[in-house]
Amino acid sequence: MSYANILIGDRDRCAAPSSLCIDKLNALNHDTLTELKDAITKANDNADVDVIILTGAGEKAFVAGADIKELSAQDAVLGQRFALFGQDVFNTIEQSAKPVIAAVNGFALGGGCELALSCHIRIAAENAKFGQPEVNLGVIPGYGGTQRLARVIGPGLAAEMILTGDMVNAAEALRIGLANRVVAKGEALQSARDMAAKIAAKGQPAVRLALQALRCVPQMGLREGLATEAALFGISCGTDDFKEGTAAFLEKRAPAFTGK
Ligand code: COA
Repeated sequence: MSYANILIGDRDRCAAPSSLCIDKLNALNHDTLTELKDAITKANDNADVDVIILTGAGEKAFVAGADIKELSAQDAVLGQRFALFGQDVFNTIEQSAKPVIAAVNGFALGGGCELALSCHIRIAAENAKFGQPEVNLGVIPGYGGTQRLARVIGPGLAAEMILTGDMVNAAEALRIGLANRVVAKGEALQSARDMAAKIAAKGQPAVRLALQALRCVPQMGLREGLATEAALFGISCGTDDFKEGTAAFLEKRAPAFTGK
C-alpha cells in the first residue's frame, strides 16, 4: 500500500519561490494551482499510489485562499478565465480515480475551503477554520464554492457562510458535515495517513469503482444513479479481488488482494 502526500505551500516545491508560499498561508496562485494539478495527475498515473492526501505546509493554514494580489488584477473578462482555471484544477481533484483526503490543518478559506470541498474526505484539526470570505473582498467564490458547499452542507447553511463571510470552527464544521472528523491540532496529517492505510488495504478495484459511483451523485437523478451503481457493481464482481475477498471470508482468513 502507498499514498501520495501533496504538501501545499512547501517552498521547495513551489514553482515560483519568490511568490506565495508558507509565509502567505499557502495562498494559491497560478503556479501553485498548475503544480497542484500536475501532482494530482502524476499521483493518479503512479501505480504505486492508492490514496492521495492534500495538506498545507506549517501549522497555521491549510490554504488561506486565492492569492489576493493576483485576484486584485482581474477584470470582468480575466476574472471568468481565472475562475475557470481554478475550477479545472479542482475538477481534476474531484474526478481523481484514487481517493483524495484533505488534511485540513488550519485556515481553509476561500479557495482553500473550495479545495477541501473538491476532495472526497475532509479531516480537520481542531484549530481548522473553514470559510468563504470572498464577499469581504467584493467578489463571490469562483473555484466551485457556491456549488460544492451547497451540495455538502445544504443550500441554507451554504448561503449563510457565503453571504456573511463568517468562518466556522472545526467543531461546527463537523456538526454541519463539512468535516468528516476532528482531531487534535497537529494530528490531521497522521489521521489522514491512518485512513489512507485503511483504504489502501482494501481491494483497489472496488475502492475506485465505489468512488466512481459516489461521484455520480451530484450529476445524476436516483434512477440513473442506481443504474450506474448496478453496472459498476457488476464490474466489481468480475475482478480477481472480488473472488479473493469472498473466498477469504468463507475460508475464515485475511484476503490477499492483488488490485486486479
Ligand atoms: N492572499 C495573499 N496573501 C495572503 C492571503 C491570501 N489569500 N492570506 C493571507 N495572506 C498573507 C497576509 O497578507 C500576510 O502577509 P504579510 O506577512 O506580508 O503581511 C500573511 O499572509 C499572514 O497573514 P495575516 O493576515 O498577517 O495573518 P493573521 O493570522 O492575522 O490572519 C487570516 C489570517 C487567514 C484570517 C487572514 O490572513 C485573512 O483573512 N486572509 C485572507 C483570507 C481570504 O480572504 N481568502 C479568500 C481569498 S479569495
